Parts: sequence; C-alpha cells; structure tokens
Amino acid sequence: MIERKEIIEMLAIDNDQELEQLFAKAYQVKTENVGNKVFYRGIVEFSNICTKNCLYCGIRKDNKNVDRYEMTDDEIIEAAMWAHDSHYGSVVLQSGERSDAAFVNRINSLLKSIKKRSNGKLGITLSVGEQSKETFERWYEAGAHRYLLRIETSNKELYKKYHPENHSYDTRLQALRNLKKTGWQTGTGVLIGLPGQTVEHLADDILFFKDFDVDMIGMGPYIVHNDTPMKSYSDSVYPENNLNLALKMIAVARIVLEDINIASTTALQAINPTGRELGLRAGANIIMPVITDVKYRSNYLLYEGKPCLDENAVQCRSCLERRIATAGESVGYDQWGDSPHYYRKRQIRSHNR
Ligand code: 5AD
Ligand code: SF4
Repeated sequence: MIERKEIIEMLAIDNDQELEQLFAKAYQVKTENVGNKVFYRGIVEFSNICTKNCLYCGIRKDNKNVDRYEMTDDEIIEAAMWAHDSHYGSVVLQSGERSDAAFVNRINSLLKSIKKRSNGKLGITLSVGEQSKETFERWYEAGAHRYLLRIETSNKELYKKYHPENHSYDTRLQALRNLKKTGWQTGTGVLIGLPGQTVEHLADDILFFKDFDVDMIGMGPYIVHNDTPMKSYSDSVYPENNLNLALKMIAVARIVLEDINIASTTALQAINPTGRELGLRAGANIIMPVITDVKYRSNYLLYEGKPCLDENAVQCRSCLERRIATAGESVGYDQWGDSPHYYRKRQIRSHNR
C-alpha cells in the first residue's frame, strides 16, 4: 500500500525529469493493468437546466446569462445511435441535476429506447447528479450500467466553501454508496486546483478513491467561469499549474488504484490543446468525445475556454483519432471498455457487451 506521505511527494514534484519519471511509471502501470487501448464514451450533454448552485459552475441555477435548453427525445436517441453507428461502444448521458418525477421517468424511457434501438449493444453511462436509491435502481434496471458522480472534493471544509448551504457532502457520499450497492460501475472525481486546495487535500482525495473502492475516475482542472461567484478568486487560479496538477493526479491515481478506468477529460484540453493526449500519457484510458449537436454546445459551458464548440461530431471523430495515434494508442471500437477493477473485485468475467 502506498503511504499518504509518498502520495504527497508525488503530487508535489516540480522538476521536469522527476515528472517524466512519474508519468512513465504511471503509463507502465496502465499498460500492465488495462492495456493501451483507449475507450470512447460519446457524451450527449442533453440539457443545461440545473436545480443546483455549485459556486464554480457556469450552468449553476443562478446564472441568468445562460440560455437554457433541453434536447428532444428524438435528438438524444439520434445522437446515441450516431455513436453506435460510429463504433463508439458507449455513450454518456449528462445534464444538470434534476430529480423531479418527469425527469426520472423520461430518463427511464430514454434508456429503454436506446437499449432497444441498439439491440442492447450500446453501453450507457449516466451523469445526472444525486438521485434517490429507488431512482438509481430503476435506471439500472432500465439498462444503464455506469454512473459518474463526482465528490468534487473529499474535504468537507472545502466542499462547504464551494457549495451553498443546502448542498450536502454527506448526501453526495450516500448517493455514491447507493450507486455501488445497486451494482453500478461507480465513478467519481474531484476538481483540481481550487483556491485553497493543497497537495495534502489532493492526496486525501486519492485515498478517498482507494478507500471507497471506485471503479472509475473522471477528474480535471478547475477553470474559472466568469459568470460565477468564484470569478473573484481568478487572480489566484493559474491554469498551467492546474493542468500540471491534474496530470499528476491522473498519474498518481493510476499508480495507486491500478486497474480502474480513468478519463482524460475535456477540461485538460481547455487549458492546453494537447491536454487530453497528455492525460493518456499520464495514465488515463478513457476519452469522452462530445457528440452534442453544435447548436447546443455553446450553452453547455461549465468553465471558460471549452474547446471544439464549432466542431460537429464527425469532425471530432477524425480529429480525435489523429490525436490518439499521436499519443501512441489505439481506440477500442465497438467495445464497452468496462472497468476491469469492477469485475476483478467481484471475481467475475467481463461480458464486454
Ligand atoms: N471547472 C472545471 N470543472 C467544472 N465542473 C463544474 N464547473 C467546473 C469548472 N468551473 C465539473 C464538476 C462537475 C462536472 C460535470 O463538471 O466537477 O461534476
Ligand atoms: Fe449543476 Fe453539476 Fe454545475 Fe453543480 S456542477 S451547478 S450540479 S451542472
């Protein structure tokens, strides 16, 4: 077991040579445990309507400068089928958080339609926030099997600092526990580089992932959005530092957790055009190409500088393939690319479909 002290040391590395060694080590652990194939999850950002008010997020409820949208059922199913026809293997359905009955029922029927249309072949990940245990059970029954719910930070003080009073760390943690209990492949993650966040906090995040026994991680650099209350901290946020810290977090997560899936998130690319390739070199093995229709993309801005707002899904497909080849990897087309950890801990074989 790697000690907290060692984790802190790895996260604190600040010279190029040691950094290269860290990434090389993480890459080795990655290839030994999950191979060097990248798996895709085409992400459909189907609505930016959110009932929450996380202080860092551009689509928080109180941001009145956002045009709120909701894709139609047909548009969502069409996007999912495009991913299927393009051999992506999986999709992520993501939106702001809602838990009203109409929303819950709608997701339920969407899941069933997509499963039916793809003959059960398209893997579905959901990323639509905190829900009740019953809802998690219903959606799992309906055919989705992976869920992303970031803890955002495992430090209660920081959580409190960057969320309004009525957002609860304990409720979020309970939701994660309920997901796991229901059988979902459960993914979480944190924001990296929040003002006031230290390498000790981040080391504790890694230990949180380990202790919770997560199957997947999606995490990325914190990036300021100018229409949020956190704009006032802009002067203390250094994008390049946050990018480096995020790459180190990916590397350390790979070294410590070994056989889980780790996403190279779009936020990395918002800071550096080759950010996602760097993520793959640092130990990530999942990419979530945005397949949301271009007409909605500019309204789904959680942070400033989100890339590829004008590129449609077809353009993204060829651009990405080039980028992945540059990183020395290939794409695992037509596969779910599930977390090996999920199956290993249950000692069962992956059915892959
Ligand atoms: N910078 C980076 N990531 C952000 N998210 C929300 N706002 C920001 C931001 N300003 C992340 C949160 C959320 C995920 C969907 O997007 O971690 O869980
Ligand atoms: Fe809503 Fe998620 Fe943004 Fe929080 S981070 S305001 S829950 S979309």
